[in-house]
Amino acid sequence: MTRNLQADVRGAVARHLETDLSLGLRETPLHSPRPVIRKLQILTADKVAQRQTALAAINERVGQCTRCGLAKTRTKTVPGQGNPAARLVFVGEAPGRDEDQQGLAFVGRAGQLLTKMIEAMGLTRDEVYICNILKCRPPENRDPAPDEISNCWPYLDEQLRIIQPEVIVALGKPASQTLLRTKEGIGRLRGVWQEYYTSGSSAVGEPTPLMPTFHPAYLLRSPTEKGKAWSDLKQVMTRLGLPITR
Ligand code: URA
Repeated sequence: MTRNLQADVRGAVARHLETDLSLGLRETPLHSPRPVIRKLQILTADKVAQRQTALAAINERVGQCTRCGLAKTRTKTVPGQGNPAARLVFVGEAPGRDEDQQGLAFVGRAGQLLTKMIEAMGLTRDEVYICNILKCRPPENRDPAPDEISNCWPYLDEQLRIIQPEVIVALGKPASQTLLRTKEGIGRLRGVWQEYYTSGSSAVGEPTPLMPTFHPAYLLRSPTEKGKAWSDLKQVMTRLGLPITR
């Protein structure tokens, strides 16, 4: 077929379809519309403002918290930050040195890798919420002590009840074990959908789907495990209807 003939045929088909559409004989347009990629929850401005106020009130209480010994050693509290309308919340273990200095979660080396992971999902840090189980840095980045977790836990639980995310990603063993109240290792937990019940109780509302995956600090030490973490995040993307292009 010559180029002119091809163009004529295409034009005739397009006119035919347009006629059908204008007569209401067809419902699909010539080019199907781009899929809508929803990065945030659909909320009224009032609702977002209410959530912002509620989250700010938690930050205020965290800022004055003296429930455990970490109050004496911290530089700044690190309540967490992000979008109150986030569909996705990342929960890590506890602030490190950089976080303690800046009062922001995941801003050190592990945080830079987390940023790359979020961006690989087609999102930005401003479109998700990022926080930790502990709101203060344990000295020398030691593991959180059980009393520190139980004292700090209500703040995180309240944040999750306010944000009502569609999915929670638990980063690493302490976050996964705390949120799921289990002693199971991260190697067995990761990559398998779990359920988070607010206040750990199945009596309080519907559970939130939770995906445990490796902590970015572990991925920096063991880069060969990155593929597993990416496959966990792709499951999250599928659940949220985000396009997977790689
Ligand atoms: N590791 C964490 O678990 N949280 C941070 O905020 C930084 C490093």
